[in-house]
Amino acid sequence: MTGALRLLIPFFLGLVLLAALFRLVPRAPRRRLRRSGILLVLYALILLALFIAHEASAESVAGGLAYAAYTLELLLVINMAALTLFDLLLHGMGWDYPDILHDLAVGAAYLIAAGWLMHRSGFNITSIVATSAVVTAVIGLALQATLGNLVGGLALRADDSIREGDWVELENKSQGQVKQIRWRHTVIETRDWDTMIVPNAQLLAQTIRVLGRRNDEVVPHRMTVLFCVDFRFSPSQVIQVVDDALRSAPIAGVAAEPAPNSVCFDLARENRDSVALYGSRYWLNNLAADDRTSSFVRERIHAALRRAQIPLAMPATAIFLSQDDPERVERKRQRERATYLDALQDVELFARLGAEEKAYLADMARPAPFCAGELITRQGATAHWLYVLTKGQAEVRVADADGHARKVADLKAPSFFGEMALMTGSPREATVVAVSDVECLRLDKDDFKRLMERRPEIAQDISAILAQRRVELLAARQGLDAEAKDQQMVSERGELLAAIREFFGLRGEN
Ligand code: CMP
Repeated sequence: MTGALRLLIPFFLGLVLLAALFRLVPRAPRRRLRRSGILLVLYALILLALFIAHEASAESVAGGLAYAAYTLELLLVINMAALTLFDLLLHGMGWDYPDILHDLAVGAAYLIAAGWLMHRSGFNITSIVATSAVVTAVIGLALQATLGNLVGGLALRADDSIREGDWVELENKSQGQVKQIRWRHTVIETRDWDTMIVPNAQLLAQTIRVLGRRNDEVVPHRMTVLFCVDFRFSPSQVIQVVDDALRSAPIAGVAAEPAPNSVCFDLARENRDSVALYGSRYWLNNLAADDRTSSFVRERIHAALRRAQIPLAMPATAIFLSQDDPERVERKRQRERATYLDALQDVELFARLGAEEKAYLADMARPAPFCAGELITRQGATAHWLYVLTKGQAEVRVADADGHARKVADLKAPSFFGEMALMTGSPREATVVAVSDVECLRLDKDDFKRLMERRPEIAQDISAILAQRRVELLAARQGLDAEAKDQQMVSERGELLAAIREFFGLRGEN
């Protein structure tokens, strides 16, 4: 008894010393200190009971109490050692060790202590475990889930696939920030201020998206804001307007790099709604503020579209039922013809035509829009159309002797191109590429031929323009100087006029 009392005092003094040291180490977590305190109080109570049992000469009770006191001494030693090692020393050194490590170390120490106690009481643990297959199976089954979670926790820690602080998305689409990976479960806090407790085994069994981390580096997370615009507005215009607005000034929560960009996802939403679907993608700096940042982005998009007078479309399904009565068709045709006629007025090539011929051309013209970067004619291809450029800009390119494409000329509306091959029957002399979104009117070869039969002098106008363009092409291909260009001009013009007349079967009096 006095021996036990002798131990109570050092335990008490040790705990007081530990408590004092905990005050000195600023980062040391004090939550586990209390457990040792409770064990000490329990130990003191058992010692008191032991004293009373001795006094009452209740020797069998005293034997049991002495055993309990010994067990508590072991527990106290283990707990105080863990406090000193983990909470004081390791925390004091600034190592933020995972809780699971502490729990495993203490758990292993408890097991060893239990083994020691059983051995001391005369139990043969090895034979118990070895012979009792049933007990082992029952324990195995009972611990199956727990062991799975424990192993899961260890695996998560070991392979470092998910870390505390990471933002993750689970298979059920819920997102949150990993707060703690504990020995049985992982604690995930959602943006809605809720906490998800996910068993580690379950976490390992599913595909988890770690948001905003790539190649082990924290990167901004890409977000997409969707909006719909009537599909009659050109996607390139909508994208330009929105991208300009999103990039014009910083938006809180949006990374400057990569810069926001927009795409047209669909020209008819879900292949049924009569609206085009767009998505503006931006990179989120702060994953906690996703909704708020998306809202800022939507505000920008909304304002930009309103400024450009592009209305946001309501998701709508329109079923057009129109009766094609001849009057309605004629009205539509008249409207188109008026627009085309307007566009043809300013084209140099048709300056000498009278109102009737221009009206004829307007009748024959077909609209042909191209977006920036598209090829309109390809060098070497067979020609079917003459193009009148009514809106936008294009570039004429020709392949030089080494096969490299060289820019020969810029074409700006109002202008025309594609006449060379059409007039002479040779393949396209150059490639024409849309530099911006362009609007063209196309005239087919036969319609144009009919016009020339009515007004053969147009061949003369064209031959002059054609000769000049051809000389420029030759200069680009063969590197002619100014004098060579002039000489070439004279001979080209005569040759071209003859070639055009022959190709179209025109008489030669004009
Ligand atoms: P075509 O050869 O039918 O197809 C390519 C067109 O590019 C060509 O007709 C001309 O209309 C145009 N083109 C070629 N060279 C020039 C130039 N120097 N300036 C403007 N247009 C040109």
